Amino acid sequence: MKIQTDFSLKNYNTFGIEASAKQFVAVHSVAELKTILEENKSNKKFILGGGSNMLLTQDIHALVIHIDLKGRKIIKQDNDYVWVESQAGENWHEFVLWTINQNFGGLENMSLIPGNVGTTPVQNIGAYGTEIKDTFVSCQAIKIENQELKTFTEDECNFGYRESVFKNEVKDQYIITSVVFKLTKRNHKINTSYGDITTELGKNNIVTPTLKDVSNAVIAIRQSKLPDPKELGNSGSFFKNPILLKTDFEKIHLQFPEMKFYDVSETEVKVPAGWLIEQAGFKGKRFGDAGIHKNQALVLVNYGTATGQEILSVSKDIQATIYKIFGIHIEAEVNVI
Ligand code: EPU
Repeated sequence: MKIQTDFSLKNYNTFGIEASAKQFVAVHSVAELKTILEENKSNKKFILGGGSNMLLTQDIHALVIHIDLKGRKIIKQDNDYVWVESQAGENWHEFVLWTINQNFGGLENMSLIPGNVGTTPVQNIGAYGTEIKDTFVSCQAIKIENQELKTFTEDECNFGYRESVFKNEVKDQYIITSVVFKLTKRNHKINTSYGDITTELGKNNIVTPTLKDVSNAVIAIRQSKLPDPKELGNSGSFFKNPILLKTDFEKIHLQFPEMKFYDVSETEVKVPAGWLIEQAGFKGKRFGDAGIHKNQALVLVNYGTATGQEILSVSKDIQATIYKIFGIHIEAEVNVI
């Protein structure tokens, strides 16, 4: 375990932003992580997973601890279900493919989401009608302050739309080291309710899709809409879809009858932020090296040498314009550092 100084984080954030860490260390086991935390009690620390959900707007004047814990295994099974455990530093998509190749069902709709397994519970990642809370059993986390290990059950995680206890009540207090999911071995609950998936399967004349078919359909949809961070720096959806009270939404809807929306509860609706941004004329626009993706307006991109500040400023411009036109506040989904 070597602590490096003035370390470039360009290859450690999917936006590809040039920023440096005052100190940087990669840990490969829980024991190494404990040691580093113990030895650096009074130093400022910054925990880095896959770097796929953050915008670096400045250098990090702290010890950056990169969670590089690897390993995945079956920990238990019965006739119907299997419990799989993945260490936090495993790449999410590779983990999903590993489960699908063994015919374990539950994660297929979340194929090709960037990032590592350990950060998936933090914002309860989701796509195409599925969220990780649907298969999540528990995760193990280490308390930064005293290095004690704690298991968080699904209940304790308080999952919501892109929300969890790790973004709220225990924010910055724990580092997730591994996650357990309960997946199906048979009678898979194939979920093709999301319109895009049905269309994609239809194109290939697939009537009774397998897990692999659903995963392939999701991969094809994502590849057609979302830029690959290896080719064009980005952090997936930059904004969350706003949730509005139905009473407020109804007034806005009278003015903008073509506005799309989805019911989320008796009293609330979700409005696609991508639609609002597109209507406001931002889709595909470019400001220097910072821009809004041409196929999915929720995604901000770095065409090369954009700084975090430049991307942040575009995001603020979008927020202000949306508020001015629609009276709706859209909130960033990525962590602005
Ligand atoms: N839309 C537009 N213009 C756009 C983008 C979207 O009008 O540029 C409209 C679409 O026509 C559609 C609606 O918005 O009616 C929803 O679009 P889409 O199915 O692409 O989903 P989204 O709400 O924009 C969310 C997630 C994505 C996830 C997709 C699919 C959030 C913040 N984003 O996007 O997640 O892949 O659903 O489930 O909830 C991510 O979090 O990084 C991410 C990519």
